Amino acid sequence: VACDGGQQSVIASLTASQASTLVVRRGSVLSAAQSDLAEVIGLRPALVAISTTVDRYFGSELRSALGRSRCRIVVIPTGEKRKSLETVTSIVKVAIDMELPRNGLMVGIGGGITLDMVGLAASLFRRGIAHVRIGTTLVGQVDAAIGLKCGVNAGGSKNSVGAFHPAELVLTDGRFLGTLELDHMRDGLAEIVKLAVASDLNLYENLSENAQLLLEPTTRDCAEARAIVDAAIAGMMRELGTNPYEAELCRRVDFGHTVSGAWEVATRYRLTHGQAVALDVALFSTVASFLGTLDPAALSGILSLFERLGIRTWHPVMNDTATLFGGLRSAEAHRGQRINLPLPDGVGNTWFLTDRADLPDKLLIRACALLEAHSRNQEVQLHVSKG
Ligand SMILES: NC(=O)c1ccc[n+]([C@@H]2O[C@H](COP(=O)([O-])OP(=O)(O)OC[C@H]3O[C@@H](n4cnc5c(N)ncnc54)[C@H](O)[C@@H]3O)[C@@H](O)[C@H]2O)c1
Repeated sequence: VACDGGQQSVIASLTASQASTLVVRRGSVLSAAQSDLAEVIGLRPALVAISTTVDRYFGSELRSALGRSRCRIVVIPTGEKRKSLETVTSIVKVAIDMELPRNGLMVGIGGGITLDMVGLAASLFRRGIAHVRIGTTLVGQVDAAIGLKCGVNAGGSKNSVGAFHPAELVLTDGRFLGTLELDHMRDGLAEIVKLAVASDLNLYENLSENAQLLLEPTTRDCAEARAIVDAAIAGMMRELGTNPYEAELCRRVDFGHTVSGAWEVATRYRLTHGQAVALDVALFSTVASFLGTLDPAALSGILSLFERLGIRTWHPVMNDTATLFGGLRSAEAHRGQRINLPLPDGVGNTWFLTDRADLPDKLLIRACALLEAHSRNQEVQLHVSKG
């Protein structure tokens, strides 16, 4: 704005360009003969960051796949406690040391934690360079690799510092899932159940029929398992595509993510992200059932799907009301000072409760108590009248 003789006028305005990301399924990301990754990197100088565990399983394949490319491979630690600005700075230091140019590339190979840290390093280095995400966990493939977001934990708060920085390319390869621990597969399945309940009845039915295939290591990359993963990726892209920078604060994909972060922090990350998401889905599905928008049979179906997959729907941290209400306050702050709470409207649809005042504390406490009773006695009556 120019001030000229007391008058104000707009001199210029700038509109930022839209984000774009491509997600591609490949079966030969690290193939020595014809690696998709080597092809994507081409002649560009690249910093390839891989997590310690993934390096143990796939490091030698990665090194032969990259052959003579102009890459520096850096092995980074994982774990929520190392998902920090310090680790991101250590990645940036390697980029500075290798004189990675502005048209160079960063590549993240690992679970959600690795992808978040590499995405953030790429967004900060030279104020933003291109990056490629290769998710090696189910959470990484269906969620962390897909969104524009990347972030780290800081100030005792989950993902409190971050950026929107779309990857130029996301490569998905089911082969990575074969070495993943069962509980980490369950984490990813919790995210897929979340998406299905919030927005995709077909996916929910497919999960009810075939999700077990993703638990068994030998069938994690079969056609039926891939169909679930691809539908989850497509569903996530659909949700994000119309609202990439979250200008709209009522987001269906926030289902499962209202109190989950507070529970992760309160348990010092003994609850993984996926486990906390499942608890959040169970809690707010129960709340929806109390409010009359999810019938008891559907609630029972969701809880029993989690149970069949070996995913818990109750944990003692749910009795900690300070964390529960603190988590809701934090969600309100994050969602524009309204709770904008996604709740199931049947399976596959969502409605939003906008005001915290319409969500009585007593109702939340009763929902947690019902889930506790249900976890102790599968036969507990899930229908509890309103009031
Ligand atoms: N940016 C986003 O939009 C977004 C979305 C969802 C989740 N996240 C973040 O992602 C994180 C959770 O991701 P996660 O569940 O992948 O956890 P993670 O990154 O900690 O990976 C889980 C474990 O599996 C190991 N691992 C990874 N790939 C493996 C493989 N192929 N075989 C064997 N072990 C392997 C990892 O080393 C780690 O120990 C959270 O911090 C969450 O906040 C971010």
